[in-house]
Amino acid sequence: MKYLKFTAVMLSVVLLSLSLSGCGSAKKDFKNAADLFFTEYSEQRALGESESDISYSKNGSYALNFLKSGNENTDKIVAEYINTKKDAFVKECETDENKGNQLFVDYACYKAADNLIGVIVKSEKKTKDGALLDTEYKTFNFNLNSGAEITDELLTTKLRNKMSRYLNRYSDDKLGGEITFNLDSKELSNAILSENGIIVHINNFKNKVNIPYQDVARQISAELRENLSITTVNGALIRDIDPTKPMVALTFDDGPSAKYTDKILDILEDYDSVATFFEVATNLKYAPDALRRAEQMGCEIGSHTTTHANLSKLDAAGIRAEISKTNAEFERVLGHKPTLLRPPYGACNDTVKQTCDQYLIGWSVDTLDWQSRNADKIINIVKSEESLNGDVILMHSLYDSTVQATEKLVPWLISEGYQLVTVSELIEYGYDSDLTLGKYYSYNFFTGIE
Ligand code: NI
Repeated sequence: MKYLKFTAVMLSVVLLSLSLSGCGSAKKDFKNAADLFFTEYSEQRALGESESDISYSKNGSYALNFLKSGNENTDKIVAEYINTKKDAFVKECETDENKGNQLFVDYACYKAADNLIGVIVKSEKKTKDGALLDTEYKTFNFNLNSGAEITDELLTTKLRNKMSRYLNRYSDDKLGGEITFNLDSKELSNAILSENGIIVHINNFKNKVNIPYQDVARQISAELRENLSITTVNGALIRDIDPTKPMVALTFDDGPSAKYTDKILDILEDYDSVATFFEVATNLKYAPDALRRAEQMGCEIGSHTTTHANLSKLDAAGIRAEISKTNAEFERVLGHKPTLLRPPYGACNDTVKQTCDQYLIGWSVDTLDWQSRNADKIINIVKSEESLNGDVILMHSLYDSTVQATEKLVPWLISEGYQLVTVSELIEYGYDSDLTLGKYYSYNFFTGIE
């Protein structure tokens, strides 16, 4: 009797499962698969409610999730893309080979600003048994005021160039240099705007890299920058630099000087220009406010060691000690350590290159201002150069004659068509190059001989 009962139970279980394996169950399975697919992006939908269209059929089933951004044009552009995919899929399913296939489409939406969004649409095609046939991604960026796409306006050559350099560093650090990017890399075209930066998907969308806006702020078009409310880089107002126009970097060493640094800054400010100051750490205490003012103006402050040390005469331990002492003093006064270091006397050897963790900067035009102490002589040396494009001019912020020369040179350089930039900007824009550790940027580099 016991066995009979057991058999009866077993029989009813079998009957129940037979009835579930019919059409109703497959439909439910599809609905569950769709729900599961829609969870991947469910946390990343910055805007409004989405709208889904789920259709089950023995010929082919699809589950689509549509963006509802609040702007009809935007929603229409995304919907057209999704519906085109759906129509092609439905047609495909008419063949025996594709019968019963499944299509899933969902989207993620990032909000970069009130009127700017980035959207990723992900599509997956599967067999009726759920085996993956194909995954496809499509990205969009929209201006919600007009509803229009903004990808071309976003991905200028300038920005793609800078993004590719950022991604190469990422690839070197995180992926063992596995992927190399250039401005034509297809990955850049899938860039989308988000709250904190530009998101690029690499490795067929396996890795998501967020490029912070601060790292590409100067390369983003002025209009988009305004929409994104980006006005400064590292606390300094963004100046527009035209990489196609000539540029030159003025540099002032051995300060700061309580007497002269502010005078030089006054001149630069009058002409909306910047320079780079290589300062001796023991001097920082004489003009800390001038240094902070310089940084706010967008000038660059580099290190010139603590005691104007000849680094080439030190061993690695001695260099390390000098630099860590110097950086501590810069951090105390400016809140951060300098990224650039100009070795005093331009004295640089392999030990210096291998030991310093700062970019080593020399010069290409020596005004000998410390020797002549004569404004006219300084000016003549600069003017006697055939072209100053890409040059780094060496002066010292310690002499009245240098201030007088600067007062004449800045407007003259501008009238000659030069943009006055910092050393880092010159290397980045003028030479279209990333600063590299272990390299001495000196005469040969800045005169293009290298
Ligand atoms: Ni010096």
